[in-house]
Amino acid sequence: MKLMRVLNGEAVWPPPVWLMRQAGRYLPEYRATRAQAGNFLKLCLNPELAAEVTFQPIRRYGFDAAILFSDILILPMALGQTLTFAEGEGPQMPPLKSIDGLNPQAAPGIYAPVMETVRRLRAGLPAETALIGFCGAPLTVACYMLDGKGGGFPRTTALAAESSPLLDDVINLLITASIAYLQAQIDAGANCVMLFDTWAAITQGETFDRYVIAPHRQITTALKAANPGIKIIGFPKQAGTRLPDYVRESGVDAISLGQEVDPAAAIAACPPGTVFQGNLDPNVLREGGPTLARETRRVLDAFRGTPHIFNLGHGITPDVNPDHVADMMKIIQNA
Ligand code: CP3
Repeated sequence: MKLMRVLNGEAVWPPPVWLMRQAGRYLPEYRATRAQAGNFLKLCLNPELAAEVTFQPIRRYGFDAAILFSDILILPMALGQTLTFAEGEGPQMPPLKSIDGLNPQAAPGIYAPVMETVRRLRAGLPAETALIGFCGAPLTVACYMLDGKGGGFPRTTALAAESSPLLDDVINLLITASIAYLQAQIDAGANCVMLFDTWAAITQGETFDRYVIAPHRQITTALKAANPGIKIIGFPKQAGTRLPDYVRESGVDAISLGQEVDPAAAIAACPPGTVFQGNLDPNVLREGGPTLARETRRVLDAFRGTPHIFNLGHGITPDVNPDHVADMMKIIQNA
């Protein structure tokens, strides 16, 4: 598997490629399967249909990796928090007051369908296609659990600034639950896992150490102790000047970069041998044409000679023309 070679530190040319949200609303076949499932949550919890939408972009484009189709908020739902996806409004949960109402013991039974999806995926994917499992990092999941919806997360930001015991309770519960959840995905056949910390930047300085680096470190330490050789990709979005500290201290094997990061600056700032993933701007995938061609080559060239997994800086948007993805793939394959 090309992707696993890169995660082991090899610079492969042309690089392996997959895209965040590669299974999604920009694909007509995804929209059809989602309609068949009824809604997004039902799709996530239906192993046959969740596996089907995961396979769709692999069949169409031959990506080097498939990412399990699910969502980072399935874990807090399994812990007992009500989750709804209002059409066109994103996820919502009742803002958490204490962790007393949550039941970690019941979680594995509720997320069992996700593990069945993973088993079907590993059995059905081509042998050369890596299967990526994932979870949301504790801080990002805590943001939704405590604020109840996206949009700045003022409550979680304030709780982090005052080192609140409630935030510590939630983070500690999520560390333990995430380790079990990722372990179950590895047992079911995931070849590597990714930690999504989209809202890492609501912390700075000491709070970044406490709520981003330390939880990632606990998760990577536990998974590596139980699974020798397992590879973990971290995505501390907008970590900025803390990126090199994160690389050195979190225990991840690779870092995913948002489109705001200059590749040359990241390569210069991080330890030699750092494995990178990213970081094409999803907006150029929407635009297509000469801009897409130029930017795809720029990202390829910027990481040439470095272990690199080609990807976007954030998820594909629903308005992307699927032909643009095919155009991008041709440029990478002919590089
Ligand atoms: O990358 C993949 O294809 C794997 C599956 C995956 C999804 N979400 C599917 C999804 C993964 C890894 C995620 C991660 C996720 N989910 C994050 C972290 C990464 C990021 O995007 O910042 C976050 C913050 C969430 C929470 C979430 N889920 C939001 C805010 C939304 C609404 C935004 C939107 O695009 O509608 C979702 C919904 C969601 N998750 C969709 C998909 C394919 C769209 C669902 C649909 O209506 O069909």
